[in-house]
Amino acid sequence: MAAATPNRTLPGDALAALAALADEPADSRFKSLPPDAEAAGLTVGQLAAERRSLFTGGFTTPVLALSAESVEHNLALLESYSERHGLAFAPHGKTSMAPQLFARQLQYGAWGITAAVPHQVRVYRAYGVQRIFLANEVVDPVALRWIARELDADPDFRLICYVDSVRGVELMDEALRGRADGRALDVVVELGAGDGARTGARTDADCAAVADAVARTATLRLVGVAGYEGEVPRADPERVRAWLERLAALAADFDKTGRFSGTGLDEIVVSAGGSAWFDTVADVFAQLPPLSLPVLKLLRSGAYVSHDDGHYSRLTPFNRIAQEGALQPAFRLWAQVVSRPSSEQAFLNAGKRDAAYDLDLPQAQVVRDARTGGIRPADAVEVTKLSDQHAWLHTGPEADLEVGDWVGLGLSHPCTSFDKWQLIPLVKADGTVVDFVRTFF
Ligand SMILES: Cc1ncc(COP(=O)(O)O)c(C=O)c1O
Repeated sequence: MAAATPNRTLPGDALAALAALADEPADSRFKSLPPDAEAAGLTVGQLAAERRSLFTGGFTTPVLALSAESVEHNLALLESYSERHGLAFAPHGKTSMAPQLFARQLQYGAWGITAAVPHQVRVYRAYGVQRIFLANEVVDPVALRWIARELDADPDFRLICYVDSVRGVELMDEALRGRADGRALDVVVELGAGDGARTGARTDADCAAVADAVARTATLRLVGVAGYEGEVPRADPERVRAWLERLAALAADFDKTGRFSGTGLDEIVVSAGGSAWFDTVADVFAQLPPLSLPVLKLLRSGAYVSHDDGHYSRLTPFNRIAQEGALQPAFRLWAQVVSRPSSEQAFLNAGKRDAAYDLDLPQAQVVRDARTGGIRPADAVEVTKLSDQHAWLHTGPEADLEVGDWVGLGLSHPCTSFDKWQLIPLVKADGTVVDFVRTFF
């Protein structure tokens, strides 16, 4: 998919790496690919070029389909949302771990891509991502030295990561010292989202102590503040807003006390924002007082790219700001009825290996009739449980379902949907498979 549109943001070798994904053999490493494609020695690109039908083109069940139209819609929507609200965008790449989608996100104006751990940074670098926001603490000396080598080798590469403890800063400094002419690593102090929340310094005094520790090193440079409102305990609009205002005040205080001066900075970074509260992030960031340097207000939503039919469809800010648009759920998992032992039970050949189940069970949405190919609503069909390789269905008296039918399932939680599939067919609304999205988990 990346090769289809010229890319203005990625270096040439990254484009070659992306293009090489199409040269992988369409073989049994990838669930659901047509066995005849492997027998014919087709590559993934050649299989995509055949424009087969997902339903009749030889794919085997279960098969996860990613809607080509919905992904494009979601990419465009968050681009326009960010632009309208003066936000730079570094979508979280851990959601899809799909370099082809990163390329599309960059084409849609993203500043860079967010990562959670150094391994993800390595994948991003292999596909030419030039700006990475590593929204986590890194104290592993091997990973730090690798990051430093990447920075030293490529003056156009920018990476920013979190710090939240004095000890962490000392460990980073130890790992990074001793490089002749090495660039300092840019860091932001992470403000924790509240007592008992995840990572992040808890108090303003803790944040200041971490910033002081950074200032004592020659290997690190403080460039801003960040945090994740998605971890605010018992999150509601008031609590999330209050925490974001604390983050904004911390940035203003650091600026007032000169923490961003004298290090050659040309902008201050203030970052927050997943896929559940970006309206509140946009509001609070819009009210940031002017600082001594321009501010890069960096949003990091990741789940928006595929959206979902569960958790995020309930939490999306677009439920509150419908006038600004709506995301579209892009995944549908197709599984086949393999057993119908009673009028109340049926079993599909997809289970925990194939479907996200950490937040909600999949929802039966539609049935594709094995005899006619017709598609009808999955009335009175409910997923009640998942085994490793089976979905348990309860069927009511009105359910029209027999062995052989395909059931289209809606999923909840994009991150744990992507990570079960290494190659995902990108499918048009009429069922034509137009490409494949490769993931690296
Ligand atoms: C630190 C951080 N930033 C951004 C995100 C992206 O949020 P979402 O998955 O809701 O898009 C996450 C998700 O877990 C996160 O942990």
